[in-house]
Amino acid sequence: MHIVHTLPALAEALTRYRHPAVVPTMGNLHEGHLALVRQAKPLGDVTVATIFVNRLQFGPQDDFDTYPRTLAADCAQLEAAGCDVVFAPTEQEFYPEPQTFRVTPPAALTDVLEGAFRPGFFAGVCTVVLKLLSCTRARTAVFGKKDYQQLMVIRHMVGQFNLPVEIVGGETCRASDGLALSSRNGYLSAAERAQAGELHAQLQAIAHAVRAGSTGYAALEAQAMHALRERGWQPDYVAVRRQSDLQVPQTAEALVVLAAARLGSTRLIDNLEF
Ligand code: PAF
Repeated sequence: MHIVHTLPALAEALTRYRHPAVVPTMGNLHEGHLALVRQAKPLGDVTVATIFVNRLQFGPQDDFDTYPRTLAADCAQLEAAGCDVVFAPTEQEFYPEPQTFRVTPPAALTDVLEGAFRPGFFAGVCTVVLKLLSCTRARTAVFGKKDYQQLMVIRHMVGQFNLPVEIVGGETCRASDGLALSSRNGYLSAAERAQAGELHAQLQAIAHAVRAGSTGYAALEAQAMHALRERGWQPDYVAVRRQSDLQVPQTAEALVVLAAARLGSTRLIDNLEF
């Protein structure tokens, strides 16, 4: 496995390949990321993981400075998962001058859910993803479905810019109590971790009720928010939406329920398609 930190070294490592399959990450990898790498492997002629903690997608109160940087452990795991090339640039390498050209995703996609609580987040994600796809010459890129809105926004960006890359969604990996694997789970205390499965349990309860015929989405959402608050969570949203554009469902269509909630000082997100 080649580990490269500069753009010329990346170009050199990829020179003889025609179809890079890329997994963009911010590092601090867990089994969910490794599953994306394994999924990417048969989809290209070289498998590339990128590791870059992207300042542009963090708000002023967010955890940019404290976000865990674990490059050596990440690389060991990536190698074991069959990754061929790791691109881990420094900020100076990737943003040698202020990144004044930015991708501004449309408000209709980003004013809801995560976008409503994290202003500028999706502009930061789109900008870095566009740049990563370009630098790696990605022909396939795999993103986890745990960041459901992120995946949807990236799909729309790639479509509108006619980027020559296929975007593939990877299923969420879960712990045995249902907690979606996330780098931020490491922030949970033992007591918080013991009840962190509750978020997924609430999403399952909603999916179950809708499958059984309920269309009272607002009541189900309010009930789940209430149950989370009762157990000490501070929910930002629990929302049943259309899978295609995350708008409020009008008719019978493919749905997803999404949630974000804080447990102590850790903000967790999760979703369930149904
Ligand atoms: O999902 C992430 O880890 C990040 O948002 C991404 C896609 C790597 C962009 O920085």
